[in-house]
Amino acid sequence: MSAALLIEDLVKKFGTGRPAVDGVSFDVPAGEIVVLLGPSGCGKTTTLRCVAGLEHPTGGRISIAGRVVSEPERGLLVSPRERDIGMVFQSYAVWPHMTVRQNVAYPLKHRRKANGDINAKVRETLELVGLGDYAERPVTSLSGGQMQRVALARSLVYRPQLLLLDEPLSNLDAKLRVHLRDELRRILKQTGMTGLYVTHDQTEAVVLGDRIGVMRNGKLLQMAPPGEIYNRPADAFVANFTGASNVLLGKVLGRTGETATIDLGAAGRIEAWTPQPLSAGDTARVALRAENVRLGERGDRNVFSGRVLECRYQGMQTVYDLDLGGQRLEALELGTAARHHANGDIALTLPPETCWAYRDDGHAAD
Ligand SMILES: Nc1ncnc2c1ncn2[C@@H]1O[C@H](COP(=O)(O)OP(=O)(O)O)[C@@H](O)[C@H]1O
Ligand SMILES: [Mg+2]
Repeated sequence: MSAALLIEDLVKKFGTGRPAVDGVSFDVPAGEIVVLLGPSGCGKTTTLRCVAGLEHPTGGRISIAGRVVSEPERGLLVSPRERDIGMVFQSYAVWPHMTVRQNVAYPLKHRRKANGDINAKVRETLELVGLGDYAERPVTSLSGGQMQRVALARSLVYRPQLLLLDEPLSNLDAKLRVHLRDELRRILKQTGMTGLYVTHDQTEAVVLGDRIGVMRNGKLLQMAPPGEIYNRPADAFVANFTGASNVLLGKVLGRTGETATIDLGAAGRIEAWTPQPLSAGDTARVALRAENVRLGERGDRNVFSGRVLECRYQGMQTVYDLDLGGQRLEALELGTAARHHANGDIALTLPPETCWAYRDDGHAAD
């Protein structure tokens, strides 16, 4: 049976200095996949290891299936083996001297299951991960992607309550990574497994996660479904980390509800969605994706005139560097034909729902 995971105000300090995990709270309902996404060193692995019981948290509470497994304030710590968790790591943790079948059977033997039961479960799990025909092969004769499938099968075969995956695709080459990524989602959903998956790769997070939590410096900045992370980033860092690399600077003129009007100087005024209580006079950063710039279009709102500085044809798409009243803007046009050229003036529309305003704290978003 897969179980719900609840993390409340988790803190993990290694010695002195900034905590590696700094007050993180979220839940993973039974059967859901949550992905923790963030740059290297932001605390993803430490969070995962605290859930597994491999690290001793400094504060907060972790519960699996409603049972508290860690709460340092009460001196409570359940050992890793009593947590009934499966784990898959970046390195292929397989037994090199065993066949595929022996590797996958190992956790069941370890748990003293009956032999007939073991054979049926191993066969079923190997089918699930697409290795039905490889049972008798020595595991060392497999490719990296296949070894990772063995590691996955070995974690799934005893149906743990919870599956933890730490960048399991990072060691694979690009093509395999994409293939196994799509497969992983199918496999996890098919088993109804509750999953906590950590990665620094945005695309992986979007494809795999029912919800994505973006982390930075040990803190969880936003936890939401992928579409919300991509269309309503709560924070300038979330916007930037998930690919909204354009930033326009301006002064807030006013705000009505979640819409702010911002003076961009020579470029004119822009209307933008904002999750923050900006007020008139604040300096703001307006973030937007290159994909959302509508080149050559005059919409109803946020119509600007710009100049194409450079045009980079990339075959399937074209990237344009634009000047917008003295500020730089990158635009992306999909398709195999470039429709605009360098050194031309051009009209463009920046749809207000794709422009996101944040208070400018004086630091770059990254
Ligand atoms: N065993 C450890 N001892 C001291 N510092 C650690 C240890 N493990 C991780 N850290 C530190 O904690 C922070 C978060 O690390 P980690 O959780 O591995 O990040 P991520 O998985 O997001 O790359 C980093 O600053 C890292 O150096
Ligand atoms: Mg890590």
